[in-house]
Amino acid sequence: MGFPQHRPRRTRQSDVWRRMVRETRLSPDALIYPLFVVPGRGVRHAVQSMPGISQLSVDEVVKEAKAAAAAGVPAVLLFAAPSEKDSKASSALDPKGLAAQAIAAIKDACPQLLVWADVCLCGSTDHGHCGHVTPKGAIENDSSIQTLAQVALNYARAGADAVAPSDMMDGRIAAMRQLLDREGHVTTPIVSYAAKYASSFYGPFREAAESAPAFGDRRSYQMDPANSREALREVLLDVEEGADLVMVKPAGPYLDIIRKVRDAVNVPVVAYQVSGEFSLIKAAAQRGWIDERPAVLETLTSIRRAGAYIIFTYHAKEVAEWLLG
Ligand code: PBG
Repeated sequence: MGFPQHRPRRTRQSDVWRRMVRETRLSPDALIYPLFVVPGRGVRHAVQSMPGISQLSVDEVVKEAKAAAAAGVPAVLLFAAPSEKDSKASSALDPKGLAAQAIAAIKDACPQLLVWADVCLCGSTDHGHCGHVTPKGAIENDSSIQTLAQVALNYARAGADAVAPSDMMDGRIAAMRQLLDREGHVTTPIVSYAAKYASSFYGPFREAAESAPAFGDRRSYQMDPANSREALREVLLDVEEGADLVMVKPAGPYLDIIRKVRDAVNVPVVAYQVSGEFSLIKAAAQRGWIDERPAVLETLTSIRRAGAYIIFTYHAKEVAEWLLG
Protein backbone atom coordinates (compact mmCIF):
# COMPACT_ATOMS: atom_id res chain seq x y z
CA MET A 1 0.00 0.00 0.00
CA GLY A 2 1.39 3.37 -0.96
CA PHE A 3 0.05 6.72 -1.95
CA PRO A 4 -2.65 8.00 -1.51
CA GLN A 5 -3.17 6.02 1.74
CA HIS A 6 0.36 6.90 2.86
CA ARG A 7 1.11 10.59 3.21
CA PRO A 8 4.24 11.24 5.31
CA ARG A 9 3.38 14.95 5.23
CA ARG A 10 0.50 14.34 7.68
CA THR A 11 2.87 14.44 10.66
CA ARG A 12 4.70 17.48 9.31
CA GLN A 13 1.74 19.81 8.98
CA SER A 14 2.36 22.09 11.96
CA ASP A 15 5.04 22.95 14.44
CA VAL A 16 3.27 20.97 17.19
CA TRP A 17 3.33 17.88 15.00
CA ARG A 18 6.92 18.36 13.96
CA ARG A 19 8.03 18.72 17.56
CA MET A 20 6.11 15.62 18.57
CA VAL A 21 7.70 13.33 15.99
CA ARG A 22 11.20 14.82 16.22
CA GLU A 23 13.81 12.08 16.75
CA THR A 24 16.86 14.15 17.67
CA ARG A 25 16.97 17.07 20.06
CA LEU A 26 19.62 19.62 20.69
CA SER A 27 20.37 20.88 24.18
CA PRO A 28 23.55 22.34 25.59
CA ASP A 29 23.86 19.42 28.09
CA ALA A 30 26.73 17.83 26.26
CA LEU A 31 28.34 20.66 24.29
CA ILE A 32 31.95 21.31 25.16
CA TYR A 33 33.59 24.64 24.50
CA PRO A 34 37.29 24.66 23.50
CA LEU A 35 39.45 27.46 24.95
CA PHE A 36 42.95 28.63 24.02
CA VAL A 37 45.20 29.93 26.76
CA VAL A 38 48.31 32.07 26.11
CA PRO A 39 50.84 33.77 28.41
CA GLY A 40 50.35 37.24 29.86
CA ARG A 41 47.63 39.21 31.62
CA GLY A 42 44.59 40.89 30.14
CA VAL A 43 45.28 39.28 26.76
CA ARG A 44 42.33 38.73 24.42
CA HIS A 45 43.87 38.20 21.03
CA ALA A 46 41.37 37.51 18.24
CA VAL A 47 42.11 34.47 16.09
CA GLN A 48 41.79 35.86 12.54
CA SER A 49 40.61 32.63 10.96
CA MET A 50 38.02 31.92 13.70
CA PRO A 51 35.64 34.88 14.08
CA GLY A 52 34.53 35.29 17.71
CA ILE A 53 37.30 33.07 19.12
CA SER A 54 40.32 34.53 20.96
CA GLN A 55 43.54 33.43 22.53
CA LEU A 56 43.17 34.30 26.21
CA SER A 57 45.57 34.81 29.10
CA VAL A 58 44.79 32.90 32.31
CA ASP A 59 42.76 35.77 33.85
CA GLU A 60 40.73 36.17 30.65
CA VAL A 61 40.25 32.42 30.15
CA VAL A 62 38.68 32.35 33.61
CA LYS A 63 36.22 35.08 32.52
CA GLU A 64 35.36 33.20 29.32
CA ALA A 65 34.88 29.94 31.24
CA LYS A 66 32.55 31.72 33.67
CA ALA A 67 30.56 33.21 30.77
CA ALA A 68 30.25 29.77 29.15
CA ALA A 69 29.11 28.21 32.43
CA ALA A 70 26.57 31.01 32.91
CA ALA A 71 25.24 30.36 29.40
CA GLY A 72 24.66 26.70 30.32
CA VAL A 73 27.75 25.01 28.89
CA PRO A 74 28.75 22.09 31.16
CA ALA A 75 32.42 21.69 30.16
CA VAL A 76 35.39 23.33 28.49
CA LEU A 77 38.34 21.77 26.65
CA LEU A 78 41.59 23.52 27.36
CA PHE A 79 44.48 24.05 24.93
CA ALA A 80 47.65 25.89 25.93
CA ALA A 81 50.02 27.77 23.65
CA PRO A 82 53.01 28.52 25.91
CA SER A 83 55.79 30.80 24.68
CA GLU A 84 58.58 28.46 25.85
CA LYS A 85 58.79 25.57 23.43
CA ASP A 86 61.54 22.92 23.41
CA SER A 87 62.10 19.35 22.28
CA LYS A 88 60.94 17.94 25.63
CA ALA A 89 57.58 19.74 25.91
CA SER A 90 58.79 21.09 29.27
CA SER A 91 55.95 23.56 29.70
CA ALA A 92 53.32 20.80 29.47
CA LEU A 93 55.21 18.80 32.12
CA ASP A 94 55.64 21.75 34.47
CA PRO A 95 53.27 21.83 37.47
CA LYS A 96 53.43 25.64 37.18
CA GLY A 97 53.22 25.64 33.37
CA LEU A 98 50.58 27.56 31.43
CA ALA A 99 48.09 24.70 31.05
CA ALA A 100 48.36 23.66 34.71
CA GLN A 101 47.87 27.26 35.83
CA ALA A 102 44.80 27.71 33.66
CA ILE A 103 43.21 24.43 34.80
CA ALA A 104 43.68 25.37 38.46
CA ALA A 105 42.42 28.92 37.93
CA ILE A 106 39.24 27.81 36.11
CA LYS A 107 38.47 25.11 38.70
CA ASP A 108 39.00 27.65 41.45
CA ALA A 109 36.63 30.20 39.85
CA CYS A 110 33.95 27.75 38.58
CA PRO A 111 34.11 24.48 40.51
CA GLN A 112 30.92 23.17 38.88
CA LEU A 113 32.26 23.58 35.32
CA LEU A 114 34.09 20.49 34.04
CA VAL A 115 37.58 21.24 32.79
CA TRP A 116 38.88 18.74 30.26
CA ALA A 117 42.53 19.11 29.33
CA ASP A 118 43.75 18.34 25.83
CA VAL A 119 46.93 16.26 26.15
CA CYS A 120 49.43 16.55 23.32
CA LEU A 121 53.01 17.61 22.69
CA CYS A 122 52.46 19.79 19.59
CA GLY A 123 51.66 23.03 21.48
CA SER A 124 54.74 22.86 23.69
CA THR A 125 57.42 21.43 21.38
CA ASP A 126 59.66 23.52 19.13
CA HIS A 127 58.99 21.17 16.18
CA GLY A 128 55.19 21.23 16.62
CA HIS A 129 54.73 17.46 16.25
CA CYS A 130 52.48 15.47 18.58
CA GLY A 131 55.29 13.16 19.71
CA HIS A 132 59.09 13.12 20.10
CA VAL A 133 61.13 13.48 16.94
CA THR A 134 64.20 11.34 16.13
CA PRO A 135 67.34 12.91 14.59
CA LYS A 136 66.11 11.62 11.23
CA GLY A 137 62.79 13.41 11.61
CA ALA A 138 60.58 10.40 12.41
CA ILE A 139 57.96 10.55 15.15
CA GLU A 140 58.95 8.11 17.87
CA ASN A 141 56.05 6.25 19.42
CA ASP A 142 57.16 4.53 22.59
CA SER A 143 59.07 7.37 24.23
CA SER A 144 56.26 9.77 23.30
CA ILE A 145 53.61 7.81 25.18
CA GLN A 146 55.69 7.97 28.36
CA THR A 147 55.88 11.77 28.07
CA LEU A 148 52.18 12.04 27.19
CA ALA A 149 51.30 10.01 30.29
CA GLN A 150 53.41 12.41 32.38
CA VAL A 151 51.60 15.38 30.83
CA ALA A 152 48.23 13.78 31.64
CA LEU A 153 49.35 13.23 35.22
CA ASN A 154 50.47 16.87 35.48
CA TYR A 155 47.03 18.06 34.31
CA ALA A 156 45.18 15.64 36.60
CA ARG A 157 47.23 16.95 39.54
CA ALA A 158 46.34 20.51 38.52
CA GLY A 159 42.67 19.55 38.85
CA ALA A 160 41.52 18.53 35.36
CA ASP A 161 38.21 16.64 35.40
CA ALA A 162 39.26 14.58 32.39
CA VAL A 163 42.30 14.24 30.15
CA ALA A 164 41.90 14.10 26.39
CA PRO A 165 44.91 12.77 24.46
CA SER A 166 44.89 14.06 20.86
CA ASP A 167 48.29 12.79 19.71
CA MET A 168 47.33 9.48 17.99
CA MET A 169 50.38 7.56 19.23
CA ASP A 170 49.79 3.81 19.68
CA GLY A 171 49.37 2.61 23.25
CA ARG A 172 49.00 6.00 24.90
CA ILE A 173 45.69 5.21 26.58
CA ALA A 174 47.15 2.21 28.41
CA ALA A 175 50.27 4.16 29.38
CA MET A 176 48.16 7.02 30.69
CA ARG A 177 45.71 4.84 32.60
CA GLN A 178 48.55 2.98 34.26
CA LEU A 179 50.36 6.11 35.41
CA LEU A 180 47.20 7.92 36.53
CA ASP A 181 46.10 4.91 38.58
CA ARG A 182 49.52 4.38 40.10
CA GLU A 183 49.54 8.01 41.22
CA GLY A 184 46.07 7.86 42.75
CA HIS A 185 44.02 9.44 39.96
CA VAL A 186 41.79 6.41 39.52
CA THR A 187 38.68 8.54 39.03
CA THR A 188 40.06 10.74 36.22
CA PRO A 189 38.39 9.72 32.93
CA ILE A 190 40.31 9.49 29.66
CA VAL A 191 38.57 10.95 26.61
CA SER A 192 40.42 9.42 23.70
CA TYR A 193 40.75 11.14 20.37
CA ALA A 194 40.45 7.61 19.04
CA ALA A 195 39.64 8.08 15.34
CA LYS A 196 41.40 11.30 14.47
CA TYR A 197 41.97 11.89 10.79
CA ALA A 198 44.81 13.77 9.08
CA SER A 199 42.38 16.48 8.01
CA SER A 200 42.73 19.76 6.15
CA PHE A 201 40.03 21.17 8.41
CA TYR A 202 42.50 21.79 11.29
CA GLY A 203 44.09 24.83 9.63
CA PRO A 204 42.45 27.59 11.70
CA PHE A 205 43.16 25.70 14.95
CA ARG A 206 46.87 25.71 14.24
CA GLU A 207 46.75 29.52 14.20
CA ALA A 208 44.88 29.51 17.53
CA ALA A 209 47.06 26.90 19.24
CA GLU A 210 50.30 27.88 17.51
CA SER A 211 50.89 24.21 16.89
CA ALA A 212 51.59 23.79 13.18
CA PRO A 213 54.34 21.23 12.51
CA ALA A 214 57.65 22.90 11.61
CA PHE A 215 58.34 20.23 8.98
CA GLY A 216 56.34 17.50 7.29
CA ASP A 217 52.78 16.66 8.22
CA ARG A 218 50.88 14.41 10.62
CA ARG A 219 50.03 11.59 8.24
CA SER A 220 52.33 9.06 9.92
CA TYR A 221 50.18 9.19 13.06
CA GLN A 222 46.74 10.61 12.19
CA MET A 223 44.39 8.49 10.08
CA ASP A 224 43.93 8.47 6.31
CA PRO A 225 40.54 10.09 5.51
CA ALA A 226 39.88 7.26 3.05
CA ASN A 227 39.66 4.62 5.80
CA SER A 228 36.69 3.56 7.87
CA ARG A 229 37.34 -0.02 9.05
CA GLU A 230 40.61 1.23 10.48
CA ALA A 231 38.64 3.69 12.64
CA LEU A 232 36.92 0.76 14.33
CA ARG A 233 40.25 -0.86 14.98
CA GLU A 234 41.57 2.34 16.60
CA VAL A 235 38.45 2.80 18.69
CA LEU A 236 38.26 -0.81 19.88
CA LEU A 237 41.94 -0.77 20.87
CA ASP A 238 41.41 2.40 22.88
CA VAL A 239 38.37 0.98 24.67
CA GLU A 240 40.40 -2.12 25.49
CA GLU A 241 43.22 0.05 26.83
CA GLY A 242 40.78 1.82 29.14
CA ALA A 243 39.35 4.84 27.30
CA ASP A 244 36.19 6.07 29.06
CA LEU A 245 34.92 8.02 26.05
CA VAL A 246 35.99 7.78 22.41
CA MET A 247 36.03 10.53 19.85
CA VAL A 248 35.70 10.86 16.12
CA LYS A 249 37.33 13.93 14.59
CA PRO A 250 36.46 15.90 12.46
CA ALA A 251 32.69 15.50 12.76
CA GLY A 252 30.69 16.76 9.76
CA PRO A 253 32.69 15.06 6.97
CA TYR A 254 32.87 11.83 9.05
CA LEU A 255 29.24 11.16 10.03
CA ASP A 256 29.50 7.63 8.64
CA ILE A 257 32.38 6.94 11.02
CA ILE A 258 30.43 8.34 13.99
CA ARG A 259 27.55 5.96 13.21
CA LYS A 260 29.83 2.93 12.86
CA VAL A 261 31.63 3.71 16.10
CA ARG A 262 28.34 4.29 17.91
CA ASP A 263 27.14 0.86 16.81
CA ALA A 264 30.40 -0.84 17.80
CA VAL A 265 31.08 0.38 21.35
CA ASN A 266 29.27 0.85 24.65
CA VAL A 267 31.20 3.88 25.89
CA PRO A 268 29.95 7.41 25.13
CA VAL A 269 30.83 8.64 21.66
CA VAL A 270 32.17 12.16 21.25
CA ALA A 271 32.54 14.12 18.01
CA TYR A 272 34.76 17.14 17.43
CA GLN A 273 33.35 19.79 15.11
CA VAL A 274 36.76 21.20 14.28
CA SER A 275 38.04 24.68 13.54
CA GLY A 276 37.69 24.41 9.74
CA GLU A 277 34.06 23.30 10.05
CA PHE A 278 33.44 26.33 12.28
CA SER A 279 35.27 28.80 10.05
CA LEU A 280 33.46 27.69 6.88
CA ILE A 281 30.10 28.53 8.43
CA LYS A 282 31.35 31.80 9.93
CA ALA A 283 32.90 32.96 6.67
CA ALA A 284 29.81 32.19 4.60
CA ALA A 285 27.55 33.82 7.22
CA GLN A 286 29.70 36.98 7.24
CA ARG A 287 29.20 37.26 3.48
CA GLY A 288 25.47 36.76 3.84
CA TRP A 289 25.65 33.50 1.89
CA ILE A 290 24.22 31.35 4.65
CA ASP A 291 21.94 31.93 7.64
CA GLU A 292 24.30 31.18 10.52
CA ARG A 293 22.00 30.11 13.33
CA PRO A 294 19.93 27.46 11.53
CA ALA A 295 23.06 26.26 9.72
CA VAL A 296 24.93 25.72 12.99
CA LEU A 297 21.95 24.00 14.62
CA GLU A 298 21.57 21.77 11.57
CA THR A 299 25.22 20.64 11.69
CA LEU A 300 25.03 19.87 15.42
CA THR A 301 21.71 18.04 15.04
CA SER A 302 23.21 15.95 12.25
CA ILE A 303 26.21 15.01 14.38
CA ARG A 304 23.83 13.89 17.17
CA ARG A 305 21.63 12.01 14.70
CA ALA A 306 24.74 10.18 13.44
CA GLY A 307 25.34 8.94 17.00
CA ALA A 308 27.50 11.41 18.93
CA TYR A 309 25.61 13.02 21.79
CA ILE A 310 28.68 14.78 23.17
CA ILE A 311 30.12 17.42 20.82
CA PHE A 312 33.17 19.64 21.03
CA THR A 313 32.25 22.82 19.18
CA TYR A 314 33.48 26.40 19.01
CA HIS A 315 29.81 27.37 18.68
CA ALA A 316 29.03 25.96 22.17
CA LYS A 317 28.61 29.22 24.07
CA GLU A 318 26.50 30.84 21.34
CA VAL A 319 24.36 27.75 20.92
CA ALA A 320 23.72 27.55 24.67
CA GLU A 321 22.65 31.20 24.56
CA TRP A 322 20.35 30.56 21.59
CA LEU A 323 18.75 27.50 23.15
CA LEU A 324 18.44 28.68 26.74
CA GLY A 325 18.59 32.46 26.49
C1 PBG B 1 46.61 18.79 18.38
C2 PBG B 1 45.20 19.04 18.04
C3 PBG B 1 44.69 19.50 16.81
C4 PBG B 1 43.33 19.69 17.00
C5 PBG B 1 43.03 19.31 18.31
N1 PBG B 1 44.20 18.89 18.93
C6 PBG B 1 45.38 19.86 15.57
C7 PBG B 1 46.18 18.89 14.87
O1 PBG B 1 46.13 17.68 15.10
O2 PBG B 1 46.94 19.35 14.01
C8 PBG B 1 42.38 20.24 15.96
C9 PBG B 1 41.21 20.98 16.47
C10 PBG B 1 40.55 21.86 15.49
O3 PBG B 1 40.90 21.97 14.31
O4 PBG B 1 39.59 22.51 15.94
N2 PBG B 1 47.05 17.51 18.42
